Amino acid sequence: MSENIPDLRAVPRAAAYEELARHATALLEGCRDEIAGMATISALIHHALGFLWTGFYRVVERQSLLRVGPYQGSLGCMEIKFGDGVCGKAAAERKTIVVPDVSAFAGHITCDARSKSEIVVPVFNRRGDLTAVLDIDADRVDDFGDTDRAGLERIVTWFRAT
Ligand code: SME
Repeated sequence: MSENIPDLRAVPRAAAYEELARHATALLEGCRDEIAGMATISALIHHALGFLWTGFYRVVERQSLLRVGPYQGSLGCMEIKFGDGVCGKAAAERKTIVVPDVSAFAGHITCDARSKSEIVVPVFNRRGDLTAVLDIDADRVDDFGDTDRAGLERIVTWFRAT
């Protein structure tokens, strides 16, 4: 199968996430492999919306440690402890965190100095276990809001079947 990634940078975010959800569902039909899902979803979101970094940190020690998983963009940090940075906080609290300005977030972990705003969304499997977080960085302040939260939380519901 071959499919192009749409360029949705000029599309209003709500419509963009609708389109991305459709693409993700089509691309991952019949797939239950979470790594394949992470790779496909990060490539799709990253290139469609032109973010700086898009990828997953996986829970490798329950309630304790995240390790980088499939991603697109510049090099990500390898490991993040629960509670550390935006990713570790979202993992510890099992909820989405939107950071409009990373310089104002105490404890933000800088992997790429160009990052200005960030969103981190928790990922759950079919048992309701937290298995990863989806982390996205943008090169401009205030790039993420409630539409992104809703759109991304919907896309990661795919992992509820893994
Ligand atoms: N900024 C994140 C670290 C991961 S990188 O952005 C890829 C954080 O504070 O958790």
